[in-house]
Amino acid sequence: MKEKEYPAKEGYDVFKKKIFALTGIDLNIYKYQIHRRVHTLMRNWNISDYDEYYRLIENDEDRRREFLDYITINVTEFFRNPSRWEFLKDKIFPELKALVNNGNKLTFVSAGCSSGEEPYSLAIQAMEARLPFEVIALDIDEGVLKKAKEGIYKQEQLVNINDKVKARYFEKIGEGIYKVKNEVKSKVAFRRFNLLKDPLPKNVHLVLCRNVVIYFSAETKNKLYSNFNKILVDGGYLMLGPTEQIFGYEHIGFSYVGFAFYKKVAEAKVASR
Ligand SMILES: C[S@@+](CC[C@H](N)C(=O)[O-])C[C@H]1O[C@@H](n2cnc3c(N)ncnc32)[C@H](O)[C@@H]1O
Repeated sequence: MKEKEYPAKEGYDVFKKKIFALTGIDLNIYKYQIHRRVHTLMRNWNISDYDEYYRLIENDEDRRREFLDYITINVTEFFRNPSRWEFLKDKIFPELKALVNNGNKLTFVSAGCSSGEEPYSLAIQAMEARLPFEVIALDIDEGVLKKAKEGIYKQEQLVNINDKVKARYFEKIGEGIYKVKNEVKSKVAFRRFNLLKDPLPKNVHLVLCRNVVIYFSAETKNKLYSNFNKILVDGGYLMLGPTEQIFGYEHIGFSYVGFAFYKKVAEAKVASR
């Protein structure tokens, strides 16, 4: 495919429909960069025709995996943006703790959990704070979920974790290789899930949705944030990535508390405005 042929439009609409039917990913909801990303992959395989590329994705599992990985971008790390996790521990956890009693658990959702670093960080942080909790970890990409469930990571991926915490929650299984201990794993339930289609869990106390919506259109983002608001209990929180924000958060029932944390305002208060 020659550079001057970009961005080709012909056949792209049909390609998008077929991809949606095959993977559940609606390329329409992503911004224009996604078209370019599709082309980059096609160029890698020396393919200039959408039909031909679709057939490759359909028939070759590795190519499908590559397509999903590249489109959804799985970059992540333990305790990504450490200052946010400090804020979660010091400011948000004590409030959430006050929301449960009588042996009930807090329900946390890691939406777009990738290979597990985020939900395991959350579980470790909550175990350190002695909270009663469960984490539901959701991602559309089966490949990353498989890795997440294995829970095996390289030393370099644990740089934000001090030695004491590392020893408490990880088992060293090789030179520079660590495995998340079963007591942490048992707190996290991984599920293949399309955030834009599947029904979210209910009565949630905290949703983490960080660095996931980067390719979503403004309208899709707002719909998703509004859906998060609906599943949160009054006083529950939504944590976004450090560069993300909700425009018009008041209108969907949030107040902003800082550090990319949004708190659900009790429904009665929103209605009376
Ligand atoms: C960059 S990673 C972010 C991981 C983690 N939240 C973090 O901040 O480190 C984005 C993840 O969102 C997932 N994702 C993208 N679109 C999704 C969708 N529609 N439903 C569920 N997961 C999605 C991708 O598969 C990817 O694993």
